[in-house]
Amino acid sequence: MNESLPLNRTQAIELLKSMNQEESNMNHYLESEAIMKKLAERFGMNVNYWGMLGLLHDVDWADTKDNWAEHTIKAEEILKEKGFDEDFIQIIQSHGYGYVEIPIHKEKERKEKVENSLAAAETLTGLIYAYALMRGGKISDMESKGLKKKFKDKSFAANCDREIILEIEKTGLELSEFLELAIDAMKGIKDEIGLN
Ligand SMILES: [Fe+2]
Repeated sequence: MNESLPLNRTQAIELLKSMNQEESNMNHYLESEAIMKKLAERFGMNVNYWGMLGLLHDVDWADTKDNWAEHTIKAEEILKEKGFDEDFIQIIQSHGYGYVEIPIHKEKERKEKVENSLAAAETLTGLIYAYALMRGGKISDMESKGLKKKFKDKSFAANCDREIILEIEKTGLELSEFLELAIDAMKGIKDEIGLN
């Protein structure tokens, strides 16, 4: 697989910002990027490539949030135009697999390590952020034990799909280690995402 990237990180962020993003969405992209980078390090994969997948996975969100059936579909045009290849685009699209709201992806299943990682990472950001807000915006002393309790409490941040987060175990990583790694990733960018 060719893992060269047509945009650098600054250009990718410019692209996202050019699309009329809400601040909270920008945070979500940066968090997904940070967790994907940690996962790539952990698995010995290409850190820049995995980071870019996290950063751009919702590149069409500003255009599709009111029309979910198009989510990840529109991304194809946007990314193609910027020079991203089929492999990159397919991995991005795989985070929409299984969603009934996206008919074209409904029956598809994630099989690759990078696909499971992306879906799990981008879903976990919401749980960690909600937990940090519950703690007054503090993440610097957050521990995975507390987060795991919130993971088990299905009524907490109920829209964070636990099944998708658990997909990380298909990569061979245990949930506990994933939670720890993801908290670490988000601690590393806490100032950028408005946490302390
Ligand atoms: Fe996302």
